[in-house]
Amino acid sequence: MAFELPYSLCFLLLLLQLPFSTIAQTYNNISFSSSLTAQEDGNPNWPSPSGEFAFGFRKIGNGGYLLAIWFDQIHEKTIVWSANRNNLVQQGSTIEFSAEGLILTDSATGTQTFISDQTGATGVAYAAMLDTGNLVLATRDSNNLWQSFDHPTDTILPTQTLNQNSTLFAQLTATNYLEGRFMFTLQFDGNLVLYTTSFPLKSTNVDYWSTKTVGSGFQVIFNQSGCIYLTAQNGSILGVISCNATSTQDFYQRATLDYDGVLRHYTYPKSTNTSSHWSTLAFIPPNICTAIVEYTGGGACGFNSLCSHDDEAPMTNCSCPKSYILVDQDDERKGCKQNFVPQRCDKASSETDHFDFQEILYTDWPSGDYEHFKPVNKEWCKQSCLNDCFCAIAIFNDGSGDCWKKGIPISNGKTNSDVKGTALVKIRKENPADPKKKEGLTPILIGSVIMLIGTILVVLIMTYLVIYRIYYRKALVSQLYPVVQGINLKCFTFMELKEATNGFKEELGRGAFATVFKGVLASDNGKCIAVKRLNAMAKENDLEFKAEVSAISRTNHRNLVQLLGFCKEGQHQLLVYEYMSNGSLASFLFGESKPNWYQRKQIALGTARGLLYLHDECSKQIIHCDIKPQNILLDDTFTARIADFGVAKLLKTDQTRTTTRIRGTKGYVAPEWFKSLPVTVKVDVYSYGIVLLEIVCCRKNFEEQALDENQMILADWAYNCYRQKKLHLLLQNVDDDQAMDGIKKLEKYLMIAFWCIQQDPSVRPTIKQVTQMLEGTVEVSVPPNPSSVYVQSK
Ligand SMILES: *[C@@H]1O[C@H](CO)[C@@H](O)[C@H](O)[C@H]1NC(C)=O
Ligand SMILES: *[C@@H]1O[C@H](CO)[C@@H](O)[C@H](O)[C@H]1NC(C)=O
Ligand SMILES: *[C@@H]1O[C@H](CO)[C@@H](O)[C@H](O)[C@H]1NC(C)=O
Ligand SMILES: *[C@@H]1O[C@H](CO)[C@@H](O)[C@H](O)[C@H]1NC(C)=O
Ligand SMILES: *[C@@H]1O[C@H](CO)[C@@H](O)[C@H](O)[C@H]1NC(C)=O
Ligand SMILES: *[C@@H]1O[C@H](CO)[C@@H](O)[C@H](O)[C@H]1NC(C)=O
Ligand SMILES: *[C@@H]1O[C@H](CO)[C@@H](O)[C@H](O)[C@H]1NC(C)=O
Repeated sequence: MAFELPYSLCFLLLLLQLPFSTIAQTYNNISFSSSLTAQEDGNPNWPSPSGEFAFGFRKIGNGGYLLAIWFDQIHEKTIVWSANRNNLVQQGSTIEFSAEGLILTDSATGTQTFISDQTGATGVAYAAMLDTGNLVLATRDSNNLWQSFDHPTDTILPTQTLNQNSTLFAQLTATNYLEGRFMFTLQFDGNLVLYTTSFPLKSTNVDYWSTKTVGSGFQVIFNQSGCIYLTAQNGSILGVISCNATSTQDFYQRATLDYDGVLRHYTYPKSTNTSSHWSTLAFIPPNICTAIVEYTGGGACGFNSLCSHDDEAPMTNCSCPKSYILVDQDDERKGCKQNFVPQRCDKASSETDHFDFQEILYTDWPSGDYEHFKPVNKEWCKQSCLNDCFCAIAIFNDGSGDCWKKGIPISNGKTNSDVKGTALVKIRKENPADPKKKEGLTPILIGSVIMLIGTILVVLIMTYLVIYRIYYRKALVSQLYPVVQGINLKCFTFMELKEATNGFKEELGRGAFATVFKGVLASDNGKCIAVKRLNAMAKENDLEFKAEVSAISRTNHRNLVQLLGFCKEGQHQLLVYEYMSNGSLASFLFGESKPNWYQRKQIALGTARGLLYLHDECSKQIIHCDIKPQNILLDDTFTARIADFGVAKLLKTDQTRTTTRIRGTKGYVAPEWFKSLPVTVKVDVYSYGIVLLEIVCCRKNFEEQALDENQMILADWAYNCYRQKKLHLLLQNVDDDQAMDGIKKLEKYLMIAFWCIQQDPSVRPTIKQVTQMLEGTVEVSVPPNPSSVYVQSK
């Protein structure tokens, strides 16, 4: 009894203490119902007896928390293992140790995950964080039922072994722990291999280092004295990865498959001070830039990127050629893209003066050539590339006179003193100069001098006008939207938005995938916002989600609703937009106070211009797919602003398609949706046509309470009125005199709408042509009957 009492008291104390403080020094065995909670400050953890390693939650940027093991006595706190790198959990999540094992509970979703899978095993007595960095679950007599060493992430530690079928996955980037683009695996056939993966899948792409060994019972051993080698079943050494008599007494050691695809053996002096850091003892492959040669995938650095290797540098260097920029600032291995408008094929010959070459010595992209010439000289090679709109880069080999032309994307780019070849990268000149070179300046004929001067004058005047226009436009735009800048996209927390919307109280609208709420940003002078809460399954992959969100945020036009920010926390996916004080076009058109003719014209034109921007003018074409009056909002000057673009891409694609399907045939949905024909920008033109009819007639396309049944569907009714020259019948809804005396104008708008709603997408005009017709710069011809495909109207 006297023995038991203090024990249970102690246990009680522990339980009381648990949620509040680290239970650090109290004991080293983790007992049942111990738990840790992910919290903002401090990181409560379970340390190993020596304190060298710790197990607990680590906050990863704003993304959430990683349940991890790390080196706890160095200031980097380098993570060596983690349980949930593909699914970070949110603040308040817990890890609990019970008789069933280690259970991770995500506070955001409530989902529980078993970290340890000692399935079927009974008799778990304790868990312990060992001084080797191994987290174990053991029986009373210290048999390990489960250990983290058997489930490595990207790192192995001294005393750890890898058995056949074990794999290390590199993390995606320096700050993103997601399983990334490279793996190191001891295969079941006995081969020890480094592979690139077809990220985001885990399937292997190309091997860039291997031992080519065959057999069973093989192991990769990282032994106590810091040697890493492959052994056969009988213990004989088949290959050594790294061996240096660096004692684990004096040095921390680890071998990590880094996010750049290199497996490095690192050491860190234990007599640590702030200037200490991890230094590389050995690494494989010797040069990753040249090791990856397969033609699938982007290589070590991504498409169009250049890889350079430096034995001393901590990480492989990826860079973009001049005039190319990273596709994603946060992930340089996504590759590079042209930061200029590429040469147009329909104008290739007239545009040759606008392009030039950047020469990069000792550089090659070995793949992707579509033409080869030999023997030629460098000028010939350049000229050939210049005249060819497909050619983005040419590789010229001075020694052999080879010229390879390549189109983008190209992969495995490398720059290294032993590469034979010069890359000629075609770039657009910043200021395309006068095409005539100096030879042209020694003219003999006075006439040509005069012509030259004349031309220069014209060019000057034009330049002045262009600059004036650009400047003027710019001034206008920045005046209207002082906040807009794609990069200013804000990442909100769910709590912030919950507060801003007063607990999602005031609903502004509701759609198939989302509900929109009004909110007020206290932090931003009480600015009003519209918060769209996605209820459909969005992209699970945070990176893809963010990529789509940032694509949306880069659009900026006076006829689009600007995205201000977003929130993605677990299942909470929200987008934050400017608030539009005059509501939606639907309530304006079909509500009490109807717009006047002038307003309707402006709304029709504004909507067309917004669509034109999405289709033709932004960096990446966006098909809206859901143009309807509910998605066209009106700001305080009643300017039409298109909302909801790009959102379809945030969702899983099949969802959008099937839900659209349900909406019925006579809606805003173009007929090709129902015929599994390819969906092009013309679906938006179709929807726009229906909306245009609604705008000019001020009534819904489908009206059940119509006077008689041939008036129920506006598109059909309007076409009948048009054909029988009885347009005044269409204006019953409009008590605006201006419209009556403008029957001719109305006719023009109807004709444009009928062109837009043609069954055959190829007959419909582009939105650009629509805009020109609305503006009056292009005549509108007589449209065919929109409801007939096969029967040609008279
Ligand atoms: C943990 O518990 C086991 C069994 O109860 C015991 O053998 C072991 O010594 C304990 N370890 C520590 C560090 O207390
Ligand atoms: C490895 O996996 C293969 C099948 O994928 C299996 O046949 C083999 O037994 C496994 N080997 C070991 C050592 O687990
Ligand atoms: C580790 O492996 C190396 C190379 O096989 C060997 O020389 C050394 O003795 C080993 N150290 C231990 C502690 O097993
Ligand atoms: C151990 O196994 C390897 C490969 O399985 C073999 O090449 C070697 O001869 C064996 N050595 C001994 C001593 O059996
Ligand atoms: C072992 O590592 C030390 C640095 O820690 C280095 O100076 C030495 O050259 C290495 N020896 C071998 C054989 O690589
Ligand atoms: C810190 O360690 C480095 C070597 O690891 C040593 O050169 C330096 O003198 C140390 N600094 C202090 C202040 O101890
Ligand atoms: C990376 O490589 C590029 C091109 O070779 C070079 O300009 C740049 O300085 C390198 N960066 C580093 C950090 O080595």
